[in-house]
Amino acid sequence: MTRSAFDYVDGVLHAEGVSAVSLAEQFGTPLYVYSRAALTAAWNAYAGACAGRRASVHVAVKANSNLAVLNVFARLGAGFDIVSGGELARVLAAGGKAENTVFSGVGKQAGEMRDALAAGVKCFNVESIPELDRLNAVAGEMGKKAPVSLRVNPDVDAKTHPYISTGLKSNKFGVAFEDARATYQAAAAMAHLKVVGIDCHIGSQITEVAPYLDAIDKVLELVEQIEQDGITIRHIDVGGGLGITYDDETPPEIGEFVRTVLDRIEVRGHGHREVYFEPGRSLVGNAGVLLTQVEFLKPGAEKNFAIVDAAMTDLARPAMYDAYHAIEPVVKRDVPAHVYDVVGPVCESGDWLGRERLLAVEPGDLLAIRSAGAYGFVMSSNYNTRGRAAEVMVDGTQAHVVRAREEAQQLFAGETILPA
Ligand code: LLP
Repeated sequence: MTRSAFDYVDGVLHAEGVSAVSLAEQFGTPLYVYSRAALTAAWNAYAGACAGRRASVHVAVKANSNLAVLNVFARLGAGFDIVSGGELARVLAAGGKAENTVFSGVGKQAGEMRDALAAGVKCFNVESIPELDRLNAVAGEMGKKAPVSLRVNPDVDAKTHPYISTGLKSNKFGVAFEDARATYQAAAAMAHLKVVGIDCHIGSQITEVAPYLDAIDKVLELVEQIEQDGITIRHIDVGGGLGITYDDETPPEIGEFVRTVLDRIEVRGHGHREVYFEPGRSLVGNAGVLLTQVEFLKPGAEKNFAIVDAAMTDLARPAMYDAYHAIEPVVKRDVPAHVYDVVGPVCESGDWLGRERLLAVEPGDLLAIRSAGAYGFVMSSNYNTRGRAAEVMVDGTQAHVVRAREEAQQLFAGETILPA
């Protein structure tokens, strides 16, 4: 996914047709800015490659769950992939349809299962026998049959960061490959479950197609065995995980990725099955930036610091995964460039956003932190009683506030002190 929705016009960064300087002036910083055009372009890349094939796309809500973002996808006809009752509520509030929603996650609670069954979700991606038992019991109480697919763990190395690699045996995710056939038999024998598919998800920020093809080959072998046992598998969910360019990564382009996956499934003789994709990052990652203002420049003996008003509470990825996000001045200025660590105001040494960046900036200048549309705002916190940033969506020359900045009073509104 390109970053072209955020480009410089006469030395000033713009989001589509709106200057980032005017956005910061109008709405303050730190500020998340999304581009409707970029969201739409990424969706169209998936949808275009799926057109005419037996394939559908389910937006991984966890990557960016803002209602306006989900609504843009819902209007384009998207399905959704959720991992909690809260995400289901968001999908419904954003105009998404339960019948196009799959419910993933390793620890679903009975209440969440009940709500999802009542809403009529398309499929539960189940990860263990105890979870099958729980879902069977909940569906039984409701007089329903729950559609299920099992998330199997194909034990392939997605060659990504260990915290976001999920397809290896050592992960908590999925049913072990060796146990999958027996687990399918157990599921098929449960009165209130209906087996409809198979699911895998091998990790995130994957920049090669090879691990997907390895996983698919293993899953298809399994599908053939499961069908020998008389259980019908209607769909294959290949999960999400396609990577984006943060720095110099060169992931496959979305359309090419989709076609390669679908072709492999077809060539292997499984083209009659429906294929589900669950992308998050590749839909929203480069459709968002985080704007922040430089508070102070602090020269040091060993390092120079640019202290900005965004923090690990706004964008946790650098602190959590050592992740790289490009950082650029919003206005290109003719001042001397120095190497800075870009850090936030939170009282933690881990509160950094970028290390050793060459920047031509002065206090008061604005910086744009790129590729912040995925796992940005959604992972933000209120540590240090910092209100979470506002979110804005730009649509052509219009900017819409899609989430108001949090004020301090809101942060402790649910708290009470003991009686006198
Ligand atoms: N489906 C399932 C079952 C998942 O667990 C995930 C992400 C996705 C789909 C979407 O994956 P994507 O296309 O976005 O890679 N917070 C981390 C990423 C965690 C991903 C968790 N699962 C980060 O900031 O890099």
